[in-house]
Amino acid sequence: MITGVGGYVPDYILDNEEMSRIVDTSDEWIMERIGVKTRHILKPEQGTGVSYLFTRAIRQLLDKTQVDPASIECLVCATTTPDYHFPSTASILIGRLGLTNAYGFDMESACAGFLLALETGANFIRSGRYKRIIVCGGEHMSSMTNYQDRNTCPIFADGAACVMLEATTEEVGLLDGVYHVEADFEHLHMKAGGSARMPSHETVDNREHFVYQEGRAVFKHAVTKMSDAVETVMKRNGLTGNDVTWLVPHQANIRIESAVARRVEISEDHVMINIDHMGNTSSGTLPLCLWEYEPKLKKGDKIVFTAFGAGFAWGASYLVWGYDGAKEAAKSPAQFYKEGEISREEWYRIRKSE
Ligand code: UT7
Repeated sequence: MITGVGGYVPDYILDNEEMSRIVDTSDEWIMERIGVKTRHILKPEQGTGVSYLFTRAIRQLLDKTQVDPASIECLVCATTTPDYHFPSTASILIGRLGLTNAYGFDMESACAGFLLALETGANFIRSGRYKRIIVCGGEHMSSMTNYQDRNTCPIFADGAACVMLEATTEEVGLLDGVYHVEADFEHLHMKAGGSARMPSHETVDNREHFVYQEGRAVFKHAVTKMSDAVETVMKRNGLTGNDVTWLVPHQANIRIESAVARRVEISEDHVMINIDHMGNTSSGTLPLCLWEYEPKLKKGDKIVFTAFGAGFAWGASYLVWGYDGAKEAAKSPAQFYKEGEISREEWYRIRKSE
């Protein structure tokens, strides 16, 4: 079961006004077509690498749970923007955070990465191999975003979050999941940088080291595939839309999230949404939703996650929440954020000063 959540977003907030000075776009277009108002960006003067974000998210998780770092047995990092091809970002973090007894590795499945990492982590626990592990999802998306391409740059953002998984005998935790791949290269990929097309002066000059996306085709697939996966998981577990406490969809586009919720008949007040101020952080979106919504979560809540991304890889999973989120969230700086009580800007200001 999940026994704690930590998260981190970098300080710099890139709003739509600034975005429209970088590329030919507008706040109206972005809000209507995507639903992102502001996004957090890791500026080089603050830090670099996804490990910068993971380090802070995991530190917060360890602080909140008061768990001894030496008791963590495994660290799984879902990311498409690792610090380096190798060693794994997990190895870097294990050293930096003093997780002296942990095994660790990275998992890459683009925007569906956290779903797969969570399932993998849960399987380590179910098999009895490990009793306490950390699963993270996060990205330094700005490192591979082309700020000359208005089709992609308003979408993506930086951020990371993580969960603690521990063994339990209660009927809570990750109970089911469906995962799929339908091979697609054409619509969503990075053209160069891997072993098939190695970095060269030509690939750099052609700007081939950035996200390439044909948005409309990806959009259609994302809506149908995520809805189908959620329906399968709900059916298999005897759930109707009214039984699901929270749908946690990948935050790719507010129109995609609404369409999926409508199709699976879950009302919008039971859908976690933070794309307006978080943007699309790829494998970070699902855990960042949990991090922000933690104060609202109660033991026994039925949560359905779904994500879709490059590959195409997608899926949905079903989890029963295991603790009183309000109590745990009160131990972290995120306690200051309560919907309607203070503004998000004030919340970020307080968190920054902590
Ligand atoms: O996270 C991984 C999975 N990714 C997704 O799920 C993303 C799925 N796709 C999408 O979210 C949307 O397709 C986008 C947000 C990427 C694009 O929205 P759209 O409504 O599908 O726009 P479009 O690509 O069909 O473009 C419509 C028009 C085009 O102009 P013309 O050719 O009709 O004159 C674009 O050039 O909008 C134009 N456009 C823009 N205009 C102002 C594209 N980007 C922008 C922009 N500002 N930023």
